[in-house]
Amino acid sequence: MRSIDPATLSYRERHQLVLSGIAPRPIALVATQDRQGRVNLAPFSFFNAFASHPPIVAIGPAHSLRTMEPKDTLVNLLETGECTISVVTARIAEQVNLASAEYAPGVDEFVKAGLTKRPSQRVRPPGVAESPYIMECVLLEHIPLARDRGGNGNLVILEVVLFHVAESVFVEGRIDPNRMQLVGRLGYDWYCHAFGEALRKIPRPVGCGIGVDALPEPIRRSPILTGEDLALLASVEQLPEPEPGFPSFPEGISADDVEIELAAGEPLRALYALLQSPVEGEQRWIMLQRIARGFLQQRRVREAWQTLLLQPGVASAQSATASTTESAAAARRAPQ
Ligand SMILES: Cc1cc2nc3c(=O)[nH]c(=O)nc-3n(C[C@H](O)[C@H](O)[C@H](O)COP(=O)(O)O)c2cc1C
Repeated sequence: MRSIDPATLSYRERHQLVLSGIAPRPIALVATQDRQGRVNLAPFSFFNAFASHPPIVAIGPAHSLRTMEPKDTLVNLLETGECTISVVTARIAEQVNLASAEYAPGVDEFVKAGLTKRPSQRVRPPGVAESPYIMECVLLEHIPLARDRGGNGNLVILEVVLFHVAESVFVEGRIDPNRMQLVGRLGYDWYCHAFGEALRKIPRPVGCGIGVDALPEPIRRSPILTGEDLALLASVEQLPEPEPGFPSFPEGISADDVEIELAAGEPLRALYALLQSPVEGEQRWIMLQRIARGFLQQRRVREAWQTLLLQPGVASAQSATASTTESAAAARRAPQ
């Protein structure tokens, strides 16, 4: 691995190092007004939420490194203490990019980017009507970052006083990412979509899992199972016992090729095929692990465990770790 001391890099290299690894970042499309009421709009991906009670967000508008002049957004925020933040969706990504050009102070980037102003209720700057999620914000704090060492960063902390969310993004009362169509910013010119194929669901753990350290040795040391697979197996609250009824196959099942069944996303049929075959020993153990992976890819943790427990060595290694796990479980239950 490369170890990189940021002090040894040029500004541009350091900037891209930060942008590429701390990614994807949400993009705040920030509208402000100057003292004369002239509107300004600019995107900021040094942006995130830091609290929800009350809702607090922050953006990082940097001073120009060359002139150390603050960006119009920061000047306006310090003058008026108000802004709106509209989230950026795939539908307006190009317009947002256009709005990021360094137009002179007083130039209205809504007009330049062809975006529509949506009047606000609690602050003066308008929101972006094309965005499905707009926040009306007031300034809480401005923290210049490492200015004594020539730093050009700023942390601007804002409280959201009013949200506007498009009716159309709700499905059964929840905001649906496929309807929001948010985009994120990475390093260089890269953006990503936070919807469609890119989405992945990971339910929050229920209770306290046994942990990877409590998995039986042959599973923990498996060259087939990945860290993700082990984490799913370790999410159970107790080491499972082999179930006498496992596996039970639907009547009339016929399958004779493990590989075809695995590729088709059919781990139970793959297991059937394996158990019909003469494969034994190490080869059988490898296949059992691959089938267990097939179950895990569908978050079928019980079937994955039961598949692994068909290997005799696993069940016996299990009893060896059981006592350790019990004491670990007792430790988790112990009052603090
Ligand atoms: C997607 C995107 C994200 C950006 N994020 C930041 C940021 O976090 N901080 C920053 O200083 N500039 C950022 N920029 C550049 C500013 O948008 C740009 O400097 C803009 O001209 C500032 O406008 P203003 O002077 O009207 O405030 C970003 C640009 C793009 C396209």
